[in-house]
Amino acid sequence: MAVREDRGGHPSSRLLSGDDAGSALSRNPQQAASALVAGHLSILPTETVYGLAADARQPAAVARIFQVKGRPTNHPVIVHVGSAAAIADWSENAPETAWKLAEALWPGPLTLVVPAAASANLVLTGGQDTIALRCPAQPLFLEVLDLMSRQQGLASAVAAPSANPFGQVSPTTAADALRGLRSRLSAEDVVLDGGTCQIGVESTVVDCTARPIRILRPGRIGRRQLAEVLGWDAVAAVGIGTTTADEAEEHVRVPGTLASHYAPITPVRVVDDTTLSAYARHPNATDQVIGLIAPASVATPVGLHRIGSPSNSRDYAHGLYSWFRRADDLGCSELLIALPLDPVDDPLADAVADRVRRATHPPTT
Ligand code: TXA
Ligand code: MG
Repeated sequence: MAVREDRGGHPSSRLLSGDDAGSALSRNPQQAASALVAGHLSILPTETVYGLAADARQPAAVARIFQVKGRPTNHPVIVHVGSAAAIADWSENAPETAWKLAEALWPGPLTLVVPAAASANLVLTGGQDTIALRCPAQPLFLEVLDLMSRQQGLASAVAAPSANPFGQVSPTTAADALRGLRSRLSAEDVVLDGGTCQIGVESTVVDCTARPIRILRPGRIGRRQLAEVLGWDAVAAVGIGTTTADEAEEHVRVPGTLASHYAPITPVRVVDDTTLSAYARHPNATDQVIGLIAPASVATPVGLHRIGSPSNSRDYAHGLYSWFRRADDLGCSELLIALPLDPVDDPLADAVADRVRRATHPPTT
């Protein structure tokens, strides 16, 4: 990707040149805020993954998110807000559990599903009577919301799914987001570069309309952290990384639970010590490149191409999606993944195992 540094006048912004034209890659939150207020799209960094954002109060702009992603219109999107107080703008009779979690854990990688306010547009909820809300812990993102609020004279909010074409891997850098969506963006849309996402996998999604509340998608915030706020009885034990393919079919309108989500083009296979040593005894004699992601302590068997060497679940989450992309870029015939050991009481290890498990599923379309 050709990126030209714009050194004159605006040292903080970079412009794309030549056939990359179509959208600016910017480091200026005001540019993103103005684009959003004007009804355009903006790719924004969060602490989890990059999001493809539109002003949540402009249905035509939100509808464009679905076009750009190629996502079915009946899939709900997360509405990103600037504070816990905004729950009242988007939800009627939000449960006490949601208020308590938001006050304790926002800003943070936690999405709360609550009853939708009658005023919440159906394009946000996918026609369901619930809405997903999250306040991301990313200073640039919060600055964009703040700048929008000043322009709009109210507590602004942006709808944002992950900034990838439907069914593909979520981006953790602005460049990866742009690579996937560039041809679908227009010149007025803005890509805000906030560096590499700190966490690397999507937020924990919690259904607060259920009693006890239920984790729908595992992320950095796990059951223990939720229970520290609400007590263990208020947090269901099931549903953490246990969604089966059949269950996913039933919950097709909860997009992150589709079995074939988060998958690279390269077929993914989970390996353990025994499988991996079998590869070592029979090194790959063909031209095919077989990729490997394994804990740093695991040696690379002869004939395999090491792609990732995480030391812990944090490294795993942080690197996973960029390693998926690397395997695709290298044209690997297969990507072998040894999961982090001992995922007990480690929400990020759960989240990584969940995304890897979905990546091993063959696409359904
Ligand atoms: O970390 C994240 O959550 C990222 C960043 C950009 O914030 N966003 C993200 O959005 O992953 P997306 O659209 O790719 O995934 C949205 C997830 C779905 O998988 C689903 O679980 C949940 O949000 N969701 C949204 N609305 C819902 C609803 N009304 N009921 C249940 N789940 C909902
Ligand atoms: Mg997504």
